[in-house]
Order: sequence, then C-alpha cells, then structure tokens
Amino acid sequence: MIATVRGTRRLTGEIKVPGDKSISHRALILGSVASGESHVRGLSGGADVESTAACMRALGVEIEGSRVVGGGMAGLRRAAGALDCGNSGTTMRLLAGLLAAQPFKSRLVGDDSLSRRPMDRVVEPLREMGAAAAWDFDEVGAARAPQFRVGGRNRLTGVEFRSPVPSAQVKSAILLAGLYAEGKTAVVEPIKTRDHTEVMLAAMGADVKVAGLRVEVGRTESLDPVDIDIPGDFSAAAFWLVAAGLVDGSRVRLLGVGVNPTRTAFAETLTSLGFAIKRSKPRLEAGEPVADLEVGGSDLGRPLQLNGGAAAAMIDELPVLAVLATQLAGRSVIAGADELRVKESDRLAAMADGLSAMGADIELDDDGWLITGPRRLEGARVDSRGDHRIAMALAVAALIADGKTEIEGAECVNISYPDFFDHLEYLA
Ligand code: S3P
Repeated sequence: MIATVRGTRRLTGEIKVPGDKSISHRALILGSVASGESHVRGLSGGADVESTAACMRALGVEIEGSRVVGGGMAGLRRAAGALDCGNSGTTMRLLAGLLAAQPFKSRLVGDDSLSRRPMDRVVEPLREMGAAAAWDFDEVGAARAPQFRVGGRNRLTGVEFRSPVPSAQVKSAILLAGLYAEGKTAVVEPIKTRDHTEVMLAAMGADVKVAGLRVEVGRTESLDPVDIDIPGDFSAAAFWLVAAGLVDGSRVRLLGVGVNPTRTAFAETLTSLGFAIKRSKPRLEAGEPVADLEVGGSDLGRPLQLNGGAAAAMIDELPVLAVLATQLAGRSVIAGADELRVKESDRLAAMADGLSAMGADIELDDDGWLITGPRRLEGARVDSRGDHRIAMALAVAALIADGKTEIEGAECVNISYPDFFDHLEYLA
C-alpha cells in the first residue's frame, strides 16, 4: 500500500495511542504461565502482539479477549509445529528464553526480516545456563529457513550474565529462563533498558531484585495472575509529540500513555530542545506509571549531540528524532546508534535515504547520522522498507513538508499501530 501524506497547517485533537507493545507481549507470556486467569485489557492490536498470542495458543494456552488462562509454570505443552513469530523480535527472543527451560523441544521461525536479525546474543547466555539452544537452518526442502531451536533439556542453572548489548529483549529472555533455573540468575546491563519484565514479575509476586544495572531472579514455583489496563505505547506517542511540536499552532492530547522512566528519555530530550510537553493525571497500572500528555508548539534552538548511552535509551524513537533534527539550527550528531542497523530494517540507511529524498541534509555514518538544519522538507516518494517505525517517522516528515509524500509499503504500520493513518487524518 502507498500512503499519501500532505503537509499540514495544524494538528489538533485527542487520541488514545495503542496499548504498549512491550508490555502487551510480557502480559501474554507471563500470564500464560501464571497460576490462574489474568485480565489484560487494552492489548496492542498490532501484528507483533498477535504473533505472541498465536504462539502461546499453539503452546496450549487459552487466550480469549482480555482473558489469559495461565496453566502454571509447568502448564505449557509442546506445539504441533514451528512457532511463527512473524516480524517480531520480542516474540522470538522472549519465547526463546521461556521455551529453553521447558522439558519439550520448540522451533521458532519468523519472516525474512526477523530471519536476518542477530540471535546469538540470546543463544549464548541460554547455553551458558545449560539450555539446548541453536539458531540454525531448517534444511527441509529447497528452502534454507533460519530457525531457533530450544528446549528439551529441563535442567538450567542460574548464571550471572554481563550482556554486551543494551537489549531488553536479551535481558528478558534470560530472566524468563531464570524463573526455571537452579539458584539465582542475574543480568548486568551496560546501560539500563526498559524494565517492563522486572516490573511485571514483581507485580506477579516473583522473587526479583533490581540494583542499578543488575537484575536478579530466583527459581519461581508460581506466579500470581496479572490484572492490567495496558498503558498507551510511549514509542507510538513519540510520533505525535514530534509532529505536534513541529507544526505551528498544534495542540494534541494523548490519553493514558505509559511514562515508565526507562522509556521516556525521548520526552526529556524534546523538552530540552524547547518542546512544550505537559503531563497530567499521573497514575499506576500494575506498577507501570501512566499519564496524559499534551504537546503543542516548540521553540527550537541548538542542534543535538547524542552519544551511545542516550541513543540506547531512546532506541525506538531515533527514526523520528532524525526527522526533528532536520529542523534544528546547526549540525546534529546522533552517534552510538549501530543497533538501528539490526532492527526490522537497517533504520540508519532507511532514514538517510527517505529524508535525503525529501531534501534533508543527512549524512550516514557507521553508527548514526550527521544532520544539518534547518531544512524545509519537500514531498517525495519514499520507501518504508516494510518497517513500521520508518513508515511512521517518514509520515511525520511528510506532515512538515511542502506538497505530497508517497510512502511505499505503508501497511507495515499494522505491526504496532494499525490506526496510525486514521489518527493522522483525524489530527491533521
Ligand atoms: C523491546 C526491546 C527493544 C526495542 C523493541 C522492544 C522489548 O529491542 O527496540 O522495540 O520489548 O523488549 P532490543 O532489546 O533489541 O533493544
């Protein structure tokens, strides 16, 4: 599908962004091994979370509407065939951790994009724990499709794993395996990443301890069911924060957005760049902070200097941050973002190509971008590369551009935000 987006004069209105994708995956996975029925309202309606739900059903779990019927820590059963994770890295990596600890074997597969993404970062620590785990090729027939094979050897031992990459997916995979391992399992991260797994485990009564960059879990016999209204996805809200901040005279209210501090570094960056973002109605949902956000206008000043730690803290927001940097006066340096090369697409290249086509001054570096602004953007034909965050970031660029932009492969917004273009039409 090609989405056509025109430059707009103003964005106004009030919307509810989809349920947080990261929290949705965790609620389905942890709810599946809880003792009893969990109630999970407001799940992300995107295809990624649907992949997790389908995998859990294939493992014998009943998921119906907002009900997840947990069968206890030992309640999963072997799936009849390969578990299809679709486009979702979170599904594959978190399930690899959970399934590595099961007494039966599982096979996880994904689409072409997911098949190209690095899995060694999960395979190695799982093996250290004594799990059977391999990322190899299914040679059946003519096709050579990568697959993740895990599980079947049920005796895992706790380790202290120092993760070389800042990745919440890696951390969560090891913690999920750790729930079944003898002794304690700890992950020490180079930089703090989103902590939704730890927060939900604590809310479900697990033995989890957090001290700075170190998270530890103990072997867990039983988890309490969870009851949660999933907060709105901050990473989805980020597109509207930038769009409403950049389009003069806008005022957009985003209802019930998750504002867990491990997710909101991007909002602080926007504020430091002169964006006016107001929070109201703060509350907690199963340990997760939530608030309404209102954004309108900005008073842009200096360019941006972002290094590795800061880039990791706003990894999913970097594509739309690149759009913003085209409007800052001077040369913005966004560095330490090499992880973007191994996301659903090579996001560094995808944004450099898309924004260059729209007239931005953007140079691609090994681990980031050099962007000189401000530049008036012009509508163009651009390619989402089948990556939801690229499609949405380029749509934000289109809103501040002159004329019309055509975004190829725009249906990929279904991965995390099926209503994105409806919301755009309503706000613009
Ligand atoms: C996620 C972790 C991040 C993030 C992804 C969701 C999660 O990935 O980019 O969108 O839910 O744990 P990495 O762990 O690869 O950094």
